[in-house]
Amino acid sequence: MFSVNRNVQDTRPIDYMNLPFKAVASDPQIDHIADKPVLTNFHGARLLIVDDEPAHRKVLAVIAEQAGMTCRAVPGAKEALNVLQSEPVDAIIADLNMPGVSGLELLTEVRRRYANLVFLMATGLDDVRLGVHAMRQGADDYLVKPLQMDAVMLSLDRAFHKKFLERELENYRQNLERMVCERTVELQNALGQVEQSYEDTLDALGAAIDLRDGQTAGHSRRVVLWSLHMLMRMQGTHKQLKNLAMGAWLHDIGKLAIPDAILLKPGPLTTQEWKIMQSHARIGHDLVNRIPFLVDAAEIVLTHHERWDGSGYPRGLKGTDIPLGARIFAVADTVDAMTSDRPYRAALPFGNAQNEIERLAGIQFDSHVVNVFLNIPNETWEPFCGQTSTMQISAALAGVFFKNSGSSF
Ligand SMILES: [Fe+2]
Repeated sequence: MFSVNRNVQDTRPIDYMNLPFKAVASDPQIDHIADKPVLTNFHGARLLIVDDEPAHRKVLAVIAEQAGMTCRAVPGAKEALNVLQSEPVDAIIADLNMPGVSGLELLTEVRRRYANLVFLMATGLDDVRLGVHAMRQGADDYLVKPLQMDAVMLSLDRAFHKKFLERELENYRQNLERMVCERTVELQNALGQVEQSYEDTLDALGAAIDLRDGQTAGHSRRVVLWSLHMLMRMQGTHKQLKNLAMGAWLHDIGKLAIPDAILLKPGPLTTQEWKIMQSHARIGHDLVNRIPFLVDAAEIVLTHHERWDGSGYPRGLKGTDIPLGARIFAVADTVDAMTSDRPYRAALPFGNAQNEIERLAGIQFDSHVVNVFLNIPNETWEPFCGQTSTMQISAALAGVFFKNSGSSF
């Protein structure tokens, strides 16, 4: 059926797929339009004629009915809007000049309510410019009075065809949007899985480091927490926080390559052994640097034993040549080493660690970082002293970042 019920509540577009189109035979000379549908008749189409002149309404109704259309004819815009509210209509031909509400005003209202309805504006010979103006305002075409049957049919044909193409384009756009949304969700899920896999792998690596160096149970996890807390006080960005967390978490990964005889040697190391032990920073860097999203974290792994005065290793960097993350880590590493139990001594009081850090400001540590550390209340640190939680580092980080966005640590 050609007609579609159109009332105010029903704002669905007309289904032009049901129009009586048929495909013309393929012509290689005009191949680009070979598949265009062509309107062959208007049987079943509902036309609304709006004209204050009874004679004009009658002529147009005769023309339309001869073409197989069903017509309603009304003398003004208000009556037309009433018809649209209560009856199915597929196309409107409205006179431009009508007393009261003009054809242009009717066009504006129709376009506001029924964007997909075919609308042709009928003008006098003197009103051609206004007819063009009406097309700019949303009319599909304009007709010049006195109306000729061929011109009316051709104009209607073009307008219905245009609406058909618009509908096709809209369907295509909607399908495209839906596909993009579906693919985006799939991509986000896949990225989430990859990220989770990385976090699980990093968790396992960090746990392996702590297991390897039996004297420092939970050390990697704690230095992550100490370090992040200082960087948060320094207004570190999310990226800086993440890099520091990963760098601190993996800082001693190079120790996996150090022989047990050296790593676990109870007594002092020989010069040669110490050299091998120091190589863990470079080995760790080379391991982590292979992972694209850990390149910045790898710099912290490489420089985590550098000292502010240049007496550290492996490169003997000085001052701000040492990455900020590594300068923060250095303080965290010392605090944790002093406040944790070791096989050869019990954990030292937190105050001792504070004094030692303060004493070495500007020598081993960046004074600015030391100030940040000393200005953080003791009760903030207490929960982390000697903590040996086995919580996954990814979960710990999620908690840190969550708290970072709102309340205190
Ligand atoms: Fe180390």
